[in-house]
Amino acid sequence: MSLPTVRGARGDCPIHVGWGALARLGAVVRESVPGCRRVMLVVDAGVQANWAGPARASLVSAGVAVAESVMQATEEAKAMPAVERLWQAMLAAGLQRSDVVLALGGGIVGDTAGFAAATFLRGVHLVMAPTTLLAMVDASIGGKTGVNLPLPGGGLGKNMAGVFHQPAAVVSDPQALTTLDPRDFRCGLAECVKHALLADPELLVWIERNAAALMAREREPMEHLVIRSSRIKAEVVSRDEFERGERAHLNLGHTFGHALESLLHRDLRHGEAVSLGLVAAVEASRAAGWWPQADPAALSRTLEALGLPVRVPGSVHRVDLIRAMGFDKKAEGGRQRLVLLKGPGAPGVLPDPDPRVVEAAWAAVGA
Ligand SMILES: NC(=O)c1ccc[n+]([C@@H]2O[C@H](COP(=O)([O-])OP(=O)(O)OC[C@H]3O[C@@H](n4cnc5c(N)ncnc54)[C@H](O)[C@@H]3O)[C@@H](O)[C@H]2O)c1
Repeated sequence: MSLPTVRGARGDCPIHVGWGALARLGAVVRESVPGCRRVMLVVDAGVQANWAGPARASLVSAGVAVAESVMQATEEAKAMPAVERLWQAMLAAGLQRSDVVLALGGGIVGDTAGFAAATFLRGVHLVMAPTTLLAMVDASIGGKTGVNLPLPGGGLGKNMAGVFHQPAAVVSDPQALTTLDPRDFRCGLAECVKHALLADPELLVWIERNAAALMAREREPMEHLVIRSSRIKAEVVSRDEFERGERAHLNLGHTFGHALESLLHRDLRHGEAVSLGLVAAVEASRAAGWWPQADPAALSRTLEALGLPVRVPGSVHRVDLIRAMGFDKKAEGGRQRLVLLKGPGAPGVLPDPDPRVVEAAWAAVGA
């Protein structure tokens, strides 16, 4: 079977997936960027001990010079000072336009290193070696790079500065997920369920059947999941690289999820909010008459088997959630939109949803 591939305006980005694939990193860099002589390896501090060694060894044996920079993966560190430090490291290493920045880590490191690569010398090549499940199936695919900005009134403006910069290749090694914190791992599973709902109903059934093996992070099911889920994102991005239309479907469940995140801040991870948001979106699809046979209870059972939450904590109330969505105000210029499903694998955008649809959605997750 062919590799999942993003077909971008400036070339293709193949996604190599395999247990132990970090050992092939050097060969992939050579093949994807033939003129590369130096690699700036940007390492997530969380993977330095276990996975930087194999990555570095593979690059060295492919005959490229390796400079290394380690980055803490926190939302606070995903900011301009980190980008400036990377630029300085690239200058010190003598990186040329024909060379490569290689991000080894989760989405935070990928987004930051990607932005540094996109802007250094007006753009050097980027190769992604994602090490979280979310980064493998989502963040490293599609070329969105960027950092957070401090907001004038305090707080963080997420991904407020950034640019599209397609990687030359992605190398996903599911073996690296064996050291990932269980909660981070489950958050990635929520994005895989989202992809399956959006585009691959058979994958949803497969996930349900293989939940236990996935939770145990077994080799074959993990490879299978990462390949199929990556393919879904790659296909959507290939059809709409710069998010002018269809790419917005990837926000399924996110309008509900963001409302939860804004109220529950640090208690709820993004992937957990997505889990709740997906159940809400499936119920909203039913309530809107788009997908009359939709079964949010069945989806909840699948998500629960993956250790993901499907009930909103009792401290959170529906009115506050609707307010956090901005749905308490009258729609301004039709700006209120929900990504819903017309059936399994058939997303669409519902403008100005009826308040009863939104209320039913929240009720489905106990709010
Ligand atoms: N560019 C995009 O299209 C896109 C899409 C979705 C999310 N994102 C961004 O991705 C970020 C979230 O990324 P994430 O979920 O990958 O989490 P993350 O980057 O925050 O990493 C989570 C934690 O896991 C650690 N870690 C990473 N890999 C590990 C491994 N194999 N073993 C042990 N520990 C490991 C990290 O050090 C960190 O502590 C957010 O900043 C979000 O905005 C970007």
